[in-house]
Amino acid sequence: MIDTLRALLVPGKGLLAMDERVGTCNQRLAAAGIAATAEMRQAWRALLLGTPQLGEGISGVILHDETLRQSLDNGRSMVSTVQMAQDAGLQIGIKVDLGTQDLPGHAGEKVTEGLDGLGPRLQAYRALGARFAKWRSVCSIDDLARPSLACIEANAHALARYAGLCQATGLVPIVEPEVLMAGPHSLAHCQQVTEALLGSVFNQLQRQGVALEWLILKPNMVISGLECPQQSSPAEVARATLQCLRRVVPAAVPGVVFLSGGQSGPQASSRLNALHALPDATLPWVLSFSFARALQHPALDIWAGQASQQGAARAALMHRVRCNVAALRGRYTPELEHP
Ligand code: 13P
Repeated sequence: MIDTLRALLVPGKGLLAMDERVGTCNQRLAAAGIAATAEMRQAWRALLLGTPQLGEGISGVILHDETLRQSLDNGRSMVSTVQMAQDAGLQIGIKVDLGTQDLPGHAGEKVTEGLDGLGPRLQAYRALGARFAKWRSVCSIDDLARPSLACIEANAHALARYAGLCQATGLVPIVEPEVLMAGPHSLAHCQQVTEALLGSVFNQLQRQGVALEWLILKPNMVISGLECPQQSSPAEVARATLQCLRRVVPAAVPGVVFLSGGQSGPQASSRLNALHALPDATLPWVLSFSFARALQHPALDIWAGQASQQGAARAALMHRVRCNVAALRGRYTPELEHP
């Protein structure tokens, strides 16, 4: 786990999340006008993983079960996904939660499932080549009671149980408690909820005896809701996010990698940049990215399922990777979007 953490959190790199569930991947393919089939999911994932130079800015990839077990076209032959990732120098991660279900008695709230039988599944993933894992929970914000304490605590407990099982198997757990962006809530409200959620998660992690030194936190940035009339500047987002993390994330945690959560690529890059450009940014943790949408778009639209567009799509992916690598050094500017 120490070797995996060192490799994942190497300075100047982040993670590529490409572990969408079948339904989510199909929705994204369909939105880009691509047939939502197993073949197209496989081709899209081969395009991502086979991008030359991906390892320049990406240290690890998070895969879905479907992808981990597949062979992919590397341009010359079909090779196992594991081989392809290893050839690219990437650590292999696996999404192990089984998605969200309604939380009984709490309308509109979700709890993430997948703990039953998780131990043997983790052992099987490790034998296949995975070195780290991911489990995502979601909470939404509204003006009334959401997220409820029940939702926060049920999800925090599951995250801690998952993380303990990962460490017992020698897999580094990525702990992903997400506060969703949908809604009219303010930046301050998002900060308050994110602090409460992360506080509960670390409480549970410690209660379950999880080693904080051997996990990575994957939180949302603190952002005003999508429908909030007052949108914050990157500097405001960075200040609120850092204040939140400093209050609740123990210094023992080696790394914090943000999800993008539906931000556009340039938005996510400029906010990540602001986090690294704050004058007093002496941080106890490595602060990096683990984006799915903010790296994969617009590459997916550019590809559009056409083999002839593969090169252009890969160039678009690498552009986003390089923008985020620049952001990790506080060197991202909007001008980089128009070279
Ligand atoms: P987004 O960056 O698209 O939010 O996805 C990250 C992720 O891994 C979701 O679980």
